[in-house]
Amino acid sequence: MSSKLFTPIEIGNLTLSNRIYVEPMCQYSAENGNMTDWHMMHVPSMAMSGAGLFCIEATAVRPKGRITHGCTGLYSDENEAAMAKVLKLARSVSDIPIGIQIGHAGRKASCELPWDGRSFLTEENGAWETEAPSPLPLTDGWPTPHVMSKDELKDLRKDFVETAKRADRLGLDYLELHGAHGYLLSSFMSPLSNQRDDEYGGSLENRIRLALEVSQDVRAAWPNEKPLGMKVNGSDFVDGGWTADDAAVLASELKGIGFDLITVSGGGVDPKAPIKAIPGYQMPFAEVVKKKSGITTATVGMIVDAHQAEEAVASGKVDMVALARGILFNPRWPFHAAVALGADIPYPVQYERGGAKLWKPAVTSVAPKLET
Ligand SMILES: Cc1cc2nc3c(=O)[nH]c(=O)nc-3n(C[C@H](O)[C@H](O)[C@H](O)COP(=O)(O)O)c2cc1C
Repeated sequence: MSSKLFTPIEIGNLTLSNRIYVEPMCQYSAENGNMTDWHMMHVPSMAMSGAGLFCIEATAVRPKGRITHGCTGLYSDENEAAMAKVLKLARSVSDIPIGIQIGHAGRKASCELPWDGRSFLTEENGAWETEAPSPLPLTDGWPTPHVMSKDELKDLRKDFVETAKRADRLGLDYLELHGAHGYLLSSFMSPLSNQRDDEYGGSLENRIRLALEVSQDVRAAWPNEKPLGMKVNGSDFVDGGWTADDAAVLASELKGIGFDLITVSGGGVDPKAPIKAIPGYQMPFAEVVKKKSGITTATVGMIVDAHQAEEAVASGKVDMVALARGILFNPRWPFHAAVALGADIPYPVQYERGGAKLWKPAVTSVAPKLET
């Protein structure tokens, strides 16, 4: 059996050995934006997953752009040194291409860690002023964000560029801008969170202006030979919100700027949006983006089963599948998917005896097809 999921794919000048993408996932375990011992375990573990690409968590371009006090940043020499240490270890155990997602949390910044309740921070807990396109709190009772002026948007663009340069110095292979989930760039894009009446609000063209300006600046600062991508929403899951057609317009523009990969996600602009998260629930948005823009496209959202992932790419609906919770649940997901799909992928030599070639029970222990 030949598996499409396990065929190589090129994003820009980078060849990935397969089409499985380990999504950026906040670990809320940094200190002053610096990676810690947790990352010394987590990043190499994900790097050893057998996927084609692994992306480091949403990393802030300035302290105010962190979601929580535990979020990583890449705005200081100290941040850079801490990340270099983690990457040195990851590189010593795996040659997987490693990317980083950079962004600004916007009006969703200054909040508690998930395991402390995820609410907005109070002054006693070290709250800071959040930044947004319009004076609209995320939801009832949340603080009203500071409305960013045009001069402040120019400063923001510089911060993205500085962070991109640090990421390049760290030898990272792929850079992704966080343009999804209601964080700053996404909050400019959605008509639900952007009610400006200047050239950054109103029409779709105006609402994507900031994202495109940041993208142009970052493309100029990030080496030409290295791929660049954006994670975008395909829907706000609210009537009158951002749509997959909007995302396709954005993706076409990004392709023109020289972007190589778009990951299509959704939600997060309105915490009350009714989202029915069934397997593959965001794939229809990715299909629209791929079809209309022609850019290399990944789908994310409840990709759980090897056969489901295989169908997604073999059908041509998307180019790659991206996993978050599925790979936390099973950090060897790609190795198990390869067994289920009859593909052969190299194991780290130290682990070869646990692989399907040398240990037959591996084959029978792989979960059967998920009923969807
Ligand atoms: C622990 C955790 C942390 C996450 N952090 C990020 C992040 O840093 N950046 C991002 O774009 N999405 C983040 N997400 C969202 C996932 O990348 C993904 O879009 C979402 O979970 C749906 O995919 P899944 O069904 O495979 O989990 C996170 C998800 C989880 C579970």
